[in-house]
Amino acid sequence: MSDTLYQVYKNATLALPRPFILLDKDLLDQNIKAILQRAHGKSIRIASKSIRSVAILKMLLEQSPTMIGVMSYSAEETLFLLENEIQNILIGYPIVNKEHIRQLCVKIATGAQVTFMVDSIEHIQLIEACAAAIPTTVNVCIDIDMSSKFPFIYFGVYRSSINTLAQLKTLVQYIKSTSHIKIHGLMGYEAQIAGLPDQVASKGFMNRVISFLKKKSIAEIAARRKACVDYLQAEGFTLSIINGGGTGSIESTLQENYINEVTAGSGFFNSHLFDSYKQFKHQAALMYAIECTRKPQTNIITCSGGGYVASGAIGHNKQAIPHLPLGLQLIPDEGTGEVQTPMDISHCKVPIQLGDPIFMRHSKAGEVCERFNKIHILIDQKNILEVNTYRGIGKCFL
Ligand SMILES: Cc1ncc(COP(=O)(O)O)c(C=O)c1O
Repeated sequence: MSDTLYQVYKNATLALPRPFILLDKDLLDQNIKAILQRAHGKSIRIASKSIRSVAILKMLLEQSPTMIGVMSYSAEETLFLLENEIQNILIGYPIVNKEHIRQLCVKIATGAQVTFMVDSIEHIQLIEACAAAIPTTVNVCIDIDMSSKFPFIYFGVYRSSINTLAQLKTLVQYIKSTSHIKIHGLMGYEAQIAGLPDQVASKGFMNRVISFLKKKSIAEIAARRKACVDYLQAEGFTLSIINGGGTGSIESTLQENYINEVTAGSGFFNSHLFDSYKQFKHQAALMYAIECTRKPQTNIITCSGGGYVASGAIGHNKQAIPHLPLGLQLIPDEGTGEVQTPMDISHCKVPIQLGDPIFMRHSKAGEVCERFNKIHILIDQKNILEVNTYRGIGKCFL
């Protein structure tokens, strides 16, 4: 990456009022290729939360027959994706709103390929009641907890209530007693592997600790996941979906060769949280531009807007970072601001004038799309194609 790229982006976007999102298609293509290579021909399910644009989801799905479908994040989003002719949708998280379940069941009754995520008897009861009323048969995927409980360290997240084989058996026995539910898949998302960087600059000790914990956890969860798959297969279930992982764990997830699809989203745009992993390096394809509006000191510029902070545990890594031109630094006391963002330009080699763009990278891939109506796709380093984000068509799901 160099300041030449800054000039390319600047020249290609001169006519665009800032702020705007820019997606470098060449770099997106490199990320797609790299993710396909990392998956070694295994199926990839695209995490829509990390994309949040129908046009881009469709573009990704067209890239390879191994991009088999989408992992959606809400009922309304799923209905919206179906309206937009996206099929093979695994809803990544449970739905408990009865009206939403009913609407999805109606779609399923007319052929929509949608799989619900469940991890409790209550989830099953809600779906069974709606499915029976229509009537239709609903595919469910059981989400198993992939956290590792080490002495003094809970290495993972709090999601599924199915932590043990015994709990899975209880749920499965209950599902067997229903008449409108089919076990279609099993998912285990190892967030502590997929979502935790292990090669962060100047965090040598922590990187070693995290790498050690990851290694231990990978072995432990693989055994747990295998026991669950073996049990379901021994019970006679054909699992069309055995899903695991995310962008950050493709390699380790696919070491478990019975897994038939891996989820990936963040790696396509490659937000900056995904810069610091040992196993892979993707390109900074998505960025947003703000513009310099003031120069409070010779070494400081102040830009309009900029403060799009990511969700999750509060920390500096949730802040956007200056991307291009190179050498810009945020001011620690101010960060990226609600309507203004100052930056130190002492180490920047490009002269910056009022009205010049500054390209920033968000910490998470999809969230930034909730701030913009359009994604401007830069093609061949000069042409711009505009597509809508979810927000650009008036949609706001979560
Ligand atoms: C269930 C599930 N699978 C997979 C992922 C990975 O998505 P990504 O590749 O966008 O990090 C996530 C991210 O939070 C998730 O919640």
